[in-house]
Amino acid sequence: MQVLNNLKWRYATKKFDADKKINDEQLSCLKEAIRLSPSSYGLQLYKVLIISDLEIKKQLQPLCWQQSQITDCSHLFIFCSYKNYNDNDVDEYIKLVTTEQGLEYTTLEGYGSFIKGKVSEKTPTEQTAWLERQPYLAVSNLIMACAEQQIDTCPMEGFTPEDINRFFQLDNKNLNAVVMVAVGYRSEDDTAQHRKKVRKAENDLFEIVGS
Ligand SMILES: Cc1cc2nc3c(=O)[nH]c(=O)nc-3n(C[C@H](O)[C@H](O)[C@H](O)COP(=O)(O)O)c2cc1C
Repeated sequence: MQVLNNLKWRYATKKFDADKKINDEQLSCLKEAIRLSPSSYGLQLYKVLIISDLEIKKQLQPLCWQQSQITDCSHLFIFCSYKNYNDNDVDEYIKLVTTEQGLEYTTLEGYGSFIKGKVSEKTPTEQTAWLERQPYLAVSNLIMACAEQQIDTCPMEGFTPEDINRFFQLDNKNLNAVVMVAVGYRSEDDTAQHRKKVRKAENDLFEIVGS
């Protein structure tokens, strides 16, 4: 299966070729892969900053454990969860769905109330954890969309979120940086590409429940 070949081909790139950039068509495709990603109730409570400007990437590097992927990648995707949930987010979502699907707002109003009720059952800590989980499926889709086009990636949590939030003044926008993906092309010198991929054995990872 092609998906397995892609998963074997990809690796967390440690050294990007700073001279190789993805083109606009590839970027559009990657953005669409993110946009089409599933999220809880479909709310998409996150935003993605995309940075290709070298000067900005240079300023970000010290906030990201000095990792070279930040400056050498073609595009840096910073996934930011909503810092706080607001019932209004659900209203906006119901408005969007009903408009796009040509329905009366009232047909999905009950569903909106159901979502609001369920989210309100979470404690503030649980809400934050829930919000921070939201972008991860989009991260995975981005990585897989890249691999399909033989574009390299490195998912990254090696940064100080508070520093990134301060740098982009994300607090004011109700955003919180949770995970990044550096996207570009591997350097020929990146020794990590030759390492054997190591994963737990199937038996250690899966447990068949029932017959
Ligand atoms: C959420 C997440 C955060 C990660 N953060 C970093 C990072 O900051 N720097 C880095 O070099 N690799 C990072 N990695 C890469 C992992 O170390 C890597 O995926 C793992 O060792 C498996 O190797 P492979 O992806 O090359 O198969 C991260 C991976 C994930 C999923």
